[in-house]
Amino acid sequence: MTGETLSQALSRGRAFLTQHDIETAALDARVLLQAASGLSHEALVMHGDDAIAPEAGQTFQMFLDARSQGKPVSRILGRREFWGLELGVSGDTLDPRPDTETLVAAVLDRVGGRRRPFIRDLGTGAGAILLALLSALPQARGLGSDLSYGALRMARANARAIGVDDRAAFVLSDWGRVPTRLADVVVSNPPYIARGELPGLMRDVRGHDPMRALDGGADGLEPYRRIAGQLPLVALPGALLAFEIGPTQAAAVQGILSGVGASVFGPGLGMLRDLAGRPRVIVARAPRH
Ligand SMILES: C[S@@+](CC[C@H](N)C(=O)[O-])C[C@H]1O[C@@H](n2cnc3c(N)ncnc32)[C@H](O)[C@@H]1O
Repeated sequence: MTGETLSQALSRGRAFLTQHDIETAALDARVLLQAASGLSHEALVMHGDDAIAPEAGQTFQMFLDARSQGKPVSRILGRREFWGLELGVSGDTLDPRPDTETLVAAVLDRVGGRRRPFIRDLGTGAGAILLALLSALPQARGLGSDLSYGALRMARANARAIGVDDRAAFVLSDWGRVPTRLADVVVSNPPYIARGELPGLMRDVRGHDPMRALDGGADGLEPYRRIAGQLPLVALPGALLAFEIGPTQAAAVQGILSGVGASVFGPGLGMLRDLAGRPRVIVARAPRH
């Protein structure tokens, strides 16, 4: 590897990851080489014929080894981009997924005239949903809660790094149990995998995301039942509700919400699909009484 140029290192990395059946070999090799060398994508292209620095070469190889064993890029680098924000992630947080941006977009499309909404994010993890909303809505304030101290620490650090920590607070709470001011908007991406399906998850998920972020109980719907039952504690009457769901859960989650008096059909309400066309978000309104 001595005397290897940046573009040779990149090709070698791509081939190595392909051999290890990593579907996104080309992208991953590039992102890992950028991180190892501290170079932007453009700089990599412009300086492809320069020799890679020895320490960068060693770090790159370490990253490739970890990736070839199935560790996701975000976990190797300890960060992930979400809604254009650079978020820190840790072993205590779910790795925020691009699909969850569908929920952020749904809320932004619907907050409408509410100039200073108060937002609650139940099961905030690294803070992805709340921080994306606060960064897009400069007058909004929000409270993220989680059952994991480690996740809350990460979310706070992310809020500081993004510069919204004066409008974001994070507390330990079993869903909505902590009493606060009632919210105009309640969002959640709760764990929604049925327990029996957990052993079959892709290798990037199993063993890297914390179990607490995935396990939705016997049928994957338990957190929705808990959250629905706690709506009077967290949501103003008629508050906007946006919950991420698994692809087969739309009707069941709408049934749970309408069972507690929430509105699930009407203008702007219903099920939304992600970019791949799969059901991904339920938008509803909290009970009005
Ligand atoms: C699927 S992850 C979502 C994380 C983040 N909102 C996101 O979209 O990236 C679910 C989160 O719910 C949290 N959680 C699980 N059970 C909880 C409970 N009873 N009360 C509050 N949070 C809980 C987990 O710790 C995890 O951070």
